Amino acid sequence: VAEAPLRGGDLDRVRVYEPGAIAVRDGVIAGVGRPADLARFEAHLPVVQGTGMVAVPGLVDCHTHPAFGGDRAAEFELRTQGADYETIHASGGGILSTVKATRALGPGGLRDAVARHVGWMAAQGSTTVECKSGYGLDGPTELASLAAIAERHPVETVPTFLGAHTVPPEWASADAYIDHLIAEVLPAAAVLAEAADIFVERGSFTAEQADRYLRAAQGLGLAARLHGDQFTECGAVPLAVELGARSVDHLEQTGADGVRLLAGSEVCGVLLPVAAMELRRPMPSARALIDAGAIVALATDFNPGSAFCDSLPVAMHVACVHMGMTPAEALCACTVNAAWVLGRHERIGRLAEGFDADIVLLDAPDWRHLAYHLGGRIVAGVLKRGRRVEP
Ligand code: NIG
Ligand code: FE
Repeated sequence: VAEAPLRGGDLDRVRVYEPGAIAVRDGVIAGVGRPADLARFEAHLPVVQGTGMVAVPGLVDCHTHPAFGGDRAAEFELRTQGADYETIHASGGGILSTVKATRALGPGGLRDAVARHVGWMAAQGSTTVECKSGYGLDGPTELASLAAIAERHPVETVPTFLGAHTVPPEWASADAYIDHLIAEVLPAAAVLAEAADIFVERGSFTAEQADRYLRAAQGLGLAARLHGDQFTECGAVPLAVELGARSVDHLEQTGADGVRLLAGSEVCGVLLPVAAMELRRPMPSARALIDAGAIVALATDFNPGSAFCDSLPVAMHVACVHMGMTPAEALCACTVNAAWVLGRHERIGRLAEGFDADIVLLDAPDWRHLAYHLGGRIVAGVLKRGRRVEP
């Protein structure tokens, strides 16, 4: 099996044992194979029967926004009647309406909200989830968001600081807000978070502002990530490559030059097809990226505005049907490569000896049902480091 990250044809390979067995010792996988190959473990270890089911690696959601209050059901309704997401944002709705509701929660409310949302993701088979702040947009609420994410959860959470999600109303200019973030918030955020993220887009931040902000973040030991090319191609991909960012996410508008740049780099393109579907935007060019050899991952983008979806199996389905990915590519993109984005590819994302025993049991006769069974009750059981995650 090829090493992480997987590129090109390696992304389309899944090894299947039928029948299969997994031996788990102290939360770590001790062996994977045919039941007969693992018979030597059986005398010492308790047995979980999965007869008639399929075991796949715990899914890794490498891009979510669970730290928010309120909802945007009314905005969803407006969009069904033709309202445009960017226009709603420009008039102070959208992200900024969630900022208001999130600030009102307070630290306790934020803790409850994050726990609830992470629980939803776990129930859909995600055993590791990256979670962004970004709906506080003031020091105290951003740090409380990161603290809520960094708490103990039934599955592993990986905090990302997204203080640069958009410009909050208190600040007259994006430049002034970025200066404030760098001077007053980043140092404290860097203690709690593993990465910093920024939304590079008209109406939010320019590539120049992102450059300044992400260099400061990297200087504090944070990995760099970007929301880029969602509505317009405005320099996020070249910047990500120049900075050696961990990922650039969205890519709905990325053209041939961006694809070529990414393919020649170590930067992962994180595809969020549910957000593209939800906003009726063109899908990212998954085929071009994979065929050119770029590192590609798949995530839900769970958030109250553009993707109120906690299910990686649903994201896999949309990736297969609307981006032309195969079920194997979709699975590898939200396991091995997503683990790579989070710097955890040596410990999670595969069912292999020495890896954490993060295992999802499917109520299905074939692993491909994970992508095929749209919105169904496919996840029958979730184990995190060998322990059952209670629904
Ligand atoms: O990744 N594009 C920017 N941020 C989020 C959506 C935020 C929102 O609408 O609340 C995203 O799609
Ligand atoms: Fe996002």
